[in-house]
Amino acid sequence: MCPIGIFDSGYGGLTVFRAIAGKLPQYDYLYLGDNARAPYGNRSFETVYEYTLECVHWFFSQGCELVILACNTASAKALRTIQQKDLPALGSQKRVLGVIRPSAEVIGRFTKTRSVGVLGTKGTVSSGSYVTEIRNFYPDIRVYQQACPLWVPFIENGDYRNDGVDYYIQKDLEQLFAQATDIDTVLLACTHYPLLEDRIRKYLPAGVSLIAQGPIVADSLADYLRRHPELAASLSTGGRKTFFTTDSVADFEEHATQFFGEEVKAQHIHLELK
Ligand code: DGL
Repeated sequence: MCPIGIFDSGYGGLTVFRAIAGKLPQYDYLYLGDNARAPYGNRSFETVYEYTLECVHWFFSQGCELVILACNTASAKALRTIQQKDLPALGSQKRVLGVIRPSAEVIGRFTKTRSVGVLGTKGTVSSGSYVTEIRNFYPDIRVYQQACPLWVPFIENGDYRNDGVDYYIQKDLEQLFAQATDIDTVLLACTHYPLLEDRIRKYLPAGVSLIAQGPIVADSLADYLRRHPELAASLSTGGRKTFFTTDSVADFEEHATQFFGEEVKAQHIHLELK
């Protein structure tokens, strides 16, 4: 039994999981939301790394050989160290993949003005990961970033329908477009943000494309598995989806069912809480 592990600090990774399960319905999946410690976005590098590594170890203990960090903050702050230090130390063939590189790889297909906006958590923006990764693939693209530190807390608290959210969305988008008026493509570089997509669109200038990561990451994973047939062959199939949360099962089931678009039944796991 070797399901694919999908991880996020909370509910956001469900937007990626939904796209992956739509594209690759044959595989089994475990989803873990570390809701008890979310949001990760304003936490230090060390803390995000420690929490993420702990969750990755939990996936390994469940038999996962492949884990997707469906979280930009964890991808920005923990992925490289996990790939370069922790996995080699484990001496195993286990793989951990993130969401930043696949998004950076395709962003050039969307922009005509070569001016791209990136919306993310404080952690993702301050890491500079998108600026570096996009520059690697497309040296001609200008990247403008805006941190939106209150969007994830609204979603994690179940307040995403609150009118107060609109105030912050409008303000953060104004700050993004104050940096450059020719931005024609805005990347939702936080997997929680598609849950606010309708509201974000309301405040976007006309003609600007809004890009969510779910379909991009799903395509990238399908391509990765095509290029690694031995890994693909080791994955268990049957289309089972099992959900875990570090916080309240009742809250998770209520919100996840709305976000995932089908009924979600969850189990609780306990990790060292700080
Ligand atoms: N979904 C996570 C991301 O993509 C949210 C981060 C957080 O927990 O603040 O960055």
